[in-house]
Amino acid sequence: MVKTFAILLALMSSSALAANDIVMHRDPGCGCCEKWAAQVRSAFGRKVQVIDDRQRSNLQRKIGLPANLVSCHTALIDGMAFEGHVPIADMKRVLTTKPKGVKGLAVAGMPLGSPGMEAPGRPRDRYHVFAFGTARPTIFKSY
Ligand code: CU
Ligand code: CU
Repeated sequence: MVKTFAILLALMSSSALAANDIVMHRDPGCGCCEKWAAQVRSAFGRKVQVIDDRQRSNLQRKIGLPANLVSCHTALIDGMAFEGHVPIADMKRVLTTKPKGVKGLAVAGMPLGSPGMEAPGRPRDRYHVFAFGTARPTIFKSY
């Protein structure tokens, strides 16, 4: 009986979240997260589970995100973390190359012109994509 229950639980949790699904924690009600998630969904061809998370700072602490790199959402993909409006190409590159010690990429704030923050007719912001996880974050790519 107990055993059956355990198996049922295992089945339920695996169907709710397949191993290769992408999970995105975001500040509740933030619209630009959805726009970023839509681009990730189509570029990776995978489900993106969106979680409204008022305690997202707990997750940011857990992944070791430096305080100066915070943005509006934190996504977990294949054991790496992505904070903010990180361009898809950079995500794919870091997931493939897996640089030593790097836990993820972050774009601080919400720069205009970054994916999900398109603002036609307005000048785009310059911004850096940082790799974090090593002793100090390093610039992964600049836009
Ligand atoms: Cu945003
Ligand atoms: Cu967001």
